[in-house]
Amino acid sequence: MKIWQPFTQEKTTATPLKIVRGEGVYLFDERGKRYLDMISSWWTNILGHGNGEVAEAIYRQARILEHVIFAGFTHSPAEKLCHELAKFLPKNLECFFFSDDGSTAVEIAIKMAYQYFVNLNKQKRNIYINLAGGYHGDTLGAMSAAGNHSRYHATFSEFFFETFSIDFPHSSQDEAVAIEKLKIFLKQNNERVCALIVEPLVQGASGMKMYRHEFLDQIVCEARKYEIIVIFDEVMTGFFRLGTMFAIDQCVEKPDIICLSKGLTGGFLPLALTVANCKIYNAFLSDDWRRAFLHGHSYTANPIACAAAIQTIEILQREEIQQNIGKIIRGHEINLQKLDHIFHKRQCGTIAAFEVESTEKARIIAKKALQNSIILRPIGRTIYFMPPYCTTVENLKYVYKKIRQYI
Ligand SMILES: Cc1ncc(COP(=O)(O)O)c(C=O)c1O
Repeated sequence: MKIWQPFTQEKTTATPLKIVRGEGVYLFDERGKRYLDMISSWWTNILGHGNGEVAEAIYRQARILEHVIFAGFTHSPAEKLCHELAKFLPKNLECFFFSDDGSTAVEIAIKMAYQYFVNLNKQKRNIYINLAGGYHGDTLGAMSAAGNHSRYHATFSEFFFETFSIDFPHSSQDEAVAIEKLKIFLKQNNERVCALIVEPLVQGASGMKMYRHEFLDQIVCEARKYEIIVIFDEVMTGFFRLGTMFAIDQCVEKPDIICLSKGLTGGFLPLALTVANCKIYNAFLSDDWRRAFLHGHSYTANPIACAAAIQTIEILQREEIQQNIGKIIRGHEINLQKLDHIFHKRQCGTIAAFEVESTEKARIIAKKALQNSIILRPIGRTIYFMPPYCTTVENLKYVYKKIRQYI
């Protein structure tokens, strides 16, 4: 029997560490050794592990209604969750489509944008614009939308649909050049462009690459000139990861569609939402069934997952969590300053990142960190921290102290 791990070269990888329990910022292995989870377990466990209140909410919901088909039926947890989320979203984002994970949230956004133009009987639009290096998930559409720059998906590139990649800006000069190139592309091809898709402000999986909201605002404005659908993939950036509920809150220009997942249920259960504006929703209303959005998954809007999400959102708003998010942000600022002999220190909200000389060095640091009970997962030569919001100032101090020693 083999259990085949995700994103893992099975031939060369070490035996996976068996985790038996989680509590707060810690995970515990079979021998009782505890580890600081500095990556919130692939960015999902924003409240930390084993949150009792979310567990209780799950239990309560499981006793009432565990699941029901979501076409032709609805339930209170789904309705309440959308109602709660709507309070944080721009007014125009009010049409909620459920699915199960970040990739499917993106897949749905891509399909919605395409069918929007089909339903309007407009000229066929099938080119997607992305920001070079972005990552939107591993399903075919999500891989395609990210374009040919991805370090992960080259094997499948022959299946990809057509995209145009905006150069990632490393400086204000780069920004001007990238926007100029975008303008030229749009002038010639705008009638074929369906959507612009970006990870707003921070590109996660490509190595915590951060960019200015002014740049994002500008590219959105360019897209708007040609009625291109704007999709923000907030699967990683959502739920206070960048200090505000959503990255949207730091931008002037708002999208037509937002994709949410990961932190949505506090890391308890898979759940995702693709939230669109009414302009898109209305384009699917018709007497013709084929104009409906013919997409759905067996576990769409699972009531137990919705209950976990409602509880997570309630907890996130509490004073103590908000204060701790502030402490983590300041903790990164102070500790990053003390880090020498590294490259390109950067921070956005609760994410801090820097580069070391090589991928090999990053791997060695992660290995040493694990020996010292710290879980990191470098991306190439990028080391980053994306801690759960229950992380203390002392936890952060310890992690940075160890990193300084390794470097
Ligand atoms: C920005 C972004 N979009 C989409 C995804 C895909 O999410 P999932 O792994 O839940 O399919 C990820 C995953 O890391 C992500 O960071």
